[in-house]
Amino acid sequence: MNVLVTGGAGYIGSHAVKRLLSDAHRVVVIDNLVMGHRAALERLTPRAEGRLAFVQGDVADFNLVERVLWEHKVDAVMHFAALAAVGESVVKPLAYYHANVTGMESLLRAVEKHNVTRFVFSSSCATYGQPADDQVPVRESCPQQPISPYGRTKLVNEWQLRDFADARRRAGKDFAFVALRYFNVAGADPEGLIGEDHTPESHLVPLVIQAARLPHARRHLHPRLRARLRPRRRPCPGAGPPESRR
Ligand SMILES: NC(=O)c1ccc[n+]([C@@H]2O[C@H](COP(=O)([O-])OP(=O)(O)OC[C@H]3O[C@@H](n4cnc5c(N)ncnc54)[C@H](O)[C@@H]3O)[C@@H](O)[C@H]2O)c1
Repeated sequence: MNVLVTGGAGYIGSHAVKRLLSDAHRVVVIDNLVMGHRAALERLTPRAEGRLAFVQGDVADFNLVERVLWEHKVDAVMHFAALAAVGESVVKPLAYYHANVTGMESLLRAVEKHNVTRFVFSSSCATYGQPADDQVPVRESCPQQPISPYGRTKLVNEWQLRDFADARRRAGKDFAFVALRYFNVAGADPEGLIGEDHTPESHLVPLVIQAARLPHARRHLHPRLRARLRPRRRPCPGAGPPESRR
């Protein structure tokens, strides 16, 4: 398949790109690099055998997305591009509505024009908000009541997709999508080619690891965990330069 991965230079997107390449798909990435790293894709290029293309640009740029869909004969879209920091979204809600909601609207217009029929959307647990105690652990059917602008943009994105899919179905056109509402993603490519590299970091697991690395915290750790958190001699296999990691 020919797959467009938006946000493919970011953390989750770059891991999706790696997997798509190893499954013999052709991949084109659109990423404006506000957060992601070109280096992550450069690390994947040698094994791509010409099946990986990168276009720097914004998903809200209809003409650019349209050109990419046409030039690469895209069959499926995996949409990871978004602004994704909950706290920042409270301070800059309009930036979040523009990047996430306008971005999705523009992307879907291009998808409609080029009749792309498969779409994977990176949604978020943030669409659930703060579930009541009796709703935890959260089930997929838990009411979606986001409490941040970020979470609301992701919920609106799901509505955009649902309405778009309904309209296509009524018009007798094929379109299937899935919205994955994951929680804090953690971990890295087992081969160590790419990893998580957000600046600033706002995700739970890297922050816990950073805290555990602090000298006063290390004293309280189990010796085996302390050994695993010993400073590395080689640079971390994250996507960016060591000084960009926090
Ligand atoms: N990391 C998590 O734990 C987590 C959890 C739930 C959902 N998500 C969602 O998964 C997706 C990816 O998350 P991530 O952690 O990999 O984030 P990330 O910031 O590492 O990756 C997002 C990528 O999108 C790019 N981007 C942002 N806005 C863009 C735009 N308008 N046009 C083009 N490119 C743009 C960024 O440069 C970046 O490379 C996001 O949609 C996020 O909301 C992430």
